[in-house]
Amino acid sequence: MTIENEDLINAAREARDQAYCRYSKYSVGAAIIDDAGRLHVGCNVENAAYNLGNCAEAAAIAAMIQEGGKRIQRIAVAGGYSEIGPCTPCGGCRQRIKEFADENTMVIVIDDSNEWQEYPIDTLLPASFHLD
Ligand code: THU
Repeated sequence: MTIENEDLINAAREARDQAYCRYSKYSVGAAIIDDAGRLHVGCNVENAAYNLGNCAEAAAIAAMIQEGGKRIQRIAVAGGYSEIGPCTPCGGCRQRIKEFADENTMVIVIDDSNEWQEYPIDTLLPASFHLD
């Protein structure tokens, strides 16, 4: 079964509803389709020691790895508001996504409106750092 973008976006939005973001009040959900077509989700989890908070993308990637996924085919990030725009992945999360990306990996971003944008990861993180 192919997971369509709409289903992926809905999964990211459902994950967003689970966010633990009592400090920033900025909820984010992420949903990944891996190389085998399976879905993995995560949300941001903050902490009273602010720098210990985790991004939604990191949580979704951790779920993918734990569940045996190898590559990110598509990742949807649901966050932000129409007034300020969607949550495009932070710099650190672009690098996290890149670690498990291939040349076709796409990043979809959506806020609380129905408009979504789609970017190839290499557009969001050109000339990225790598070791091999
Ligand atoms: N956040 C994410 O979950 N993903 C991003 O790509 C950017 C920011 C979270 C971290 C923090 O809990 C909240 O959004 C506000 O920065």
